[in-house]
Parts: sequence; C-alpha cells; structure tokens
Amino acid sequence: MSEARTDYAIKQDWSAYSEEEHAIWRLLFERQQRLLAGRACREYLDGLEGLGVAAGGIPDFRRLSDILDRATGWRIVAVPGLVPDDVFFAYLAARRFPSTCFIRRRDQLDYLQEPDVFHDIYGHVPMLMNPVFADYMQAYGEGGLKALRLGHLAHLARLYWYTVEFGLIATPEGLRIYGSGILSSAGESVYCLEDPHPHRLRFDLRRVMRTQYHIDRYQETYFVIDDFGQLFAATRPDFAPIYHEIAILPDIPAEAVLPEDRGYAASRPGIRARKKEGPRVSTARV
Ligand code: PHE
Ligand code: CO
Repeated sequence: MSEARTDYAIKQDWSAYSEEEHAIWRLLFERQQRLLAGRACREYLDGLEGLGVAAGGIPDFRRLSDILDRATGWRIVAVPGLVPDDVFFAYLAARRFPSTCFIRRRDQLDYLQEPDVFHDIYGHVPMLMNPVFADYMQAYGEGGLKALRLGHLAHLARLYWYTVEFGLIATPEGLRIYGSGILSSAGESVYCLEDPHPHRLRFDLRRVMRTQYHIDRYQETYFVIDDFGQLFAATRPDFAPIYHEIAILPDIPAEAVLPEDRGYAASRPGIRARKKEGPRVSTARV
C-alpha cells in the first residue's frame, strides 16, 4: 500500500555513526573554523557559538533542535537526501529544517554536489539562530509553495541560491559570507571574497531572479546585501506581479554584468572592501 504523501522524515540514529565519520566531521570543522574567522558574517559566527556545535563530532540533531527551538522556534528534521520541492517548502514554512544525516567520504572533503550533514548542519543551521534570518527562511517556504502553484519556481529558486546558499553581506569591516554553500566549502570561502574572477554585485531582487547559476563549480557572480533586514524587506512584497513582470524578460547568464549593476571589489584579508562606482566590465548581451 502506498501513501499519497510522505514527509520523508527518518531517524538520525546518532549512535550508528562510526569513528571514521566523526573524524571526517572534525577535519571539516577545524578547517572551516580557521578559514571563517574574518570571512563569515557575525550573525553566523554567533549562531555557531550559540549552538555549541562542537568540533567533537557529528552533532545529535535532538540536542541541536532543543537549542535552536529555544532561540527561534526552528527544529531539525532528518531526511535521507534532497526531498521534493513541495515537501521542502512545507517544512520551511513550518520552521522545520530538513537535514541529511550522511557525511561525505574522506576522498570527497573538498567537493560534493549533493548536501551532506556537514553542509546542512554546519552551513545552514547557525544562520537559523538569527531571528531575522529565521523569519526569512520561513517566508521563503511559504513563497515556495506559492511559486509552485504559479509555475515560477525557477525564478524563486535563484533567490534561494544567491542568498541562502551563496549570499555575501557588506559590513563596515568588508564583505562577509552568510551563504551556506560557501560556509561549508573550504575553497569557495576564500574564492568568493578574495579571487579577482567572480563578480560581486549589489543585491537586486529582479536581477537575482533572472540570473542563471552553475551547480557544478564556484560561482561566477555573488550578490551582496547590506543587512538581513534589507533582504527581508525586499522579499516581503507579493511576488506574483514580479513573476509576471520578469516572465517576458530574458534570463541573465551567470557571468554577465549589466550597465546598471553596482559592483564590490574583491577583499584582501585585513583590507576593507570599497564600494565601486559602476560595473567593472560589461559583458552582458541580454
Ligand atoms: N513575498 C514572497 C511571495 O509573495 C514570499 C517570499 C518571502 C519568498 C521571502 C522568498 C523569500 O511569494
Ligand atoms: Co544547502
């Protein structure tokens, strides 16, 4: 007998992790801790500290959920892997974060295309300790259910990609990372801030929704917000008219820069990033 719908929830079975699996977590954790000082945003570092996600090994979701719940009312639900869009959005709308349980193998430390427990817990969960970001994620879940109904998921998915997964934030000390896809990646956490190649552009909702992305390499473009209040305010309006407005406009390639884009310079460690006037290059044909 098959159920019409399932929530995909499983048990984490924390006691079943091997010593090797905990050792891989510790390796990833210690490496990121060194890289993220001075690169991750304050909200992330505070969240990580508040959770007490120890370097000790793969955390027990129940323990984390109790701390997270007290801070912002979110809880972690264990799932086997990527879940269908409607299930994912319904979880977020209910302030439940679906997290994978498995950890990458030792020969995959630097690169993995699907989320694992290190990405989901170390990358995402600390941001959910921040009240504004926690509300943004819930609103995104509600917006996802609506985008599904309206047939505009591709546009909304780009917003998730360029904020939740690969977002940068401008602070008085320079650009900092808040995107989870970067926070859990050793290579990209340096590349996104310091490499001269990628564009770092001021966040603009419609621009983001029109921008394609690559899932198999470092990003060509990052979008920079000023603060989480700005992000939440920009995404508060009803997206239905915005979807209609951009439906007739062409997609923008991941590497394009438009005349109206405002760029940020790459940062060098210890050097304050400056806002640049106008685009660095203009390659767009859109
Ligand atoms: N305001 C959006 C809508 O009407 C919902 C949303 C909020 C989507 C925050 C993403 C992020 O669809
Ligand atoms: Co993710």
